[in-house]
Amino acid sequence: MAKKEKANEENNLFKKIIAHSKEYGFVYPSSEIYDGLGAVYDYGPYGVELKNNIKRLWWQSMTQLNDNVVGIDASIFMHPTTWKASGHVDSFSDPLIDNKDSKKRYRADVLIEDRAAQLEEEGEKEKADALLKNMGQLLEADNLDGLLELILEEGIVCPVSGTANWTEIRHFNLMFDTQVGSVADEANTLYLRPETAQGIFVNFLNVQKTARMKIPFGIAQVGKAFRNEIVARQFIFRMREFEQMEMQFFVRPGEEMKWYEHWRDTRLNWHKALGIPDENLKLHDHEKLAHYANAALDIEFKFPFGFKEVEGIHSRTDFDLSSHQEFSRKKQQYFDPEVNKNYIPYVVETSVGADRLFLMTLCNAFTEEEVGEGDKKKLRTFLKLNPVIAPVKAAILPLTKKDGLPEKARKIYQELKYDFNLIYEEQQSIGKRYTRQDLIGTPFCVAVDHQTLEDDTVTIRHRDTTNQERVSISALRDKIATAVSPKNIFDKL
Ligand code: GAP
Repeated sequence: MAKKEKANEENNLFKKIIAHSKEYGFVYPSSEIYDGLGAVYDYGPYGVELKNNIKRLWWQSMTQLNDNVVGIDASIFMHPTTWKASGHVDSFSDPLIDNKDSKKRYRADVLIEDRAAQLEEEGEKEKADALLKNMGQLLEADNLDGLLELILEEGIVCPVSGTANWTEIRHFNLMFDTQVGSVADEANTLYLRPETAQGIFVNFLNVQKTARMKIPFGIAQVGKAFRNEIVARQFIFRMREFEQMEMQFFVRPGEEMKWYEHWRDTRLNWHKALGIPDENLKLHDHEKLAHYANAALDIEFKFPFGFKEVEGIHSRTDFDLSSHQEFSRKKQQYFDPEVNKNYIPYVVETSVGADRLFLMTLCNAFTEEEVGEGDKKKLRTFLKLNPVIAPVKAAILPLTKKDGLPEKARKIYQELKYDFNLIYEEQQSIGKRYTRQDLIGTPFCVAVDHQTLEDDTVTIRHRDTTNQERVSISALRDKIATAVSPKNIFDKL
């Protein structure tokens, strides 16, 4: 297939996934009645269930499977000096450029990346690679004038005005700030945290002492983070308000590479265990390391718009704890009885976006299958979600609305609803109800028919194969429980 055709197909697929998310109650644009808010989204009834299941699975994988990992829930607001110490006030920024004619603002590196993608599409891969390399070097040297020259040399124009009438490039800090209390002065400025990790670092000693943790140990957290992203596109891939699931693993200095490799492999396996095919995942080592890291990589997933980061694994050295020690003047040391020494631990971080994981699982699950023959050929769309994270585990469906079938079905629903998230549905034909459950990824449809009244059996229809089997009502609980147990995933780790 020609490159352009393939790109169009991928683009169409992504559009379909976005439309599906909205139509079937997964993700809506925020405040849509006011035309939405850029890069901010709301989760609907099935979206929130799916997202909660993903977060719960991550939490269990971290805290239940590892007896040396415990959790916390730190506040979004933190003392403003935190962000001085972490380096975010001084260097958490993007290089931005404005077009004087359209008044539109862009990330300079993204304009160049888009140009490189265009070159590649035109079959100029070498030129594209050279351009990206050149950009990487200029970014590393913080050479903003050089970046502007590159944009002009490449003839990059604003997609809106079509002109190259650019301003100079400036750094733009990505942190949102707000005022605490009633007096608006700089001393009262607080930031909305741009990463959850710092809430873990400032609680390192609290947790170590109160939970009596011995190195090596980890602290896990799930929570909101905020970034004033300028390039807001690709749906929930890049949001201004999003959720992170981060784990900081504190280790003896010198042992960080061993743990870096351990967590890299563990986390990659986790994604595979969730059902993501090997060929759609890859590791990408960072060439340019952040100021705090001595090794870093991304776990990337093949989204319809290409391989992109889902999770970061970073060896952060002792940068954060040392810096907090310096700024707070409070010792951040650990006494290691095994080596009889005090030291500031090194840290290996695993950091994954809950929303990106959500998008990854949705893209991976979205399936269109041709069914039927001849004139009756049609597309069956369903979400092939792992049952462990599927929003609804089973739908209980009486075949008709009469003959006592609804009463029997409701009884089954009442008995199972304490164990699983279920749907009871009696409107429309059974076929339409199956289709509806396919579209939200429900792994099992339990149909209650006239035979049920005679022998207490029901049919279970399986989402992925549409095969049906007859089972007794008394076996239902076990059957569903086995399929949706997180153990199915944990066993593969
Ligand atoms: N504490 C390290 C850290 O925050 P990061 O690579 O900036 O590292 C980690 O972010 C993860 O958070 C990313 O891999 C991604 O999954 C998620 N993430 C970052 N920015 C995001 C955004 N604007 N929208 C959605 N998810 C984001």
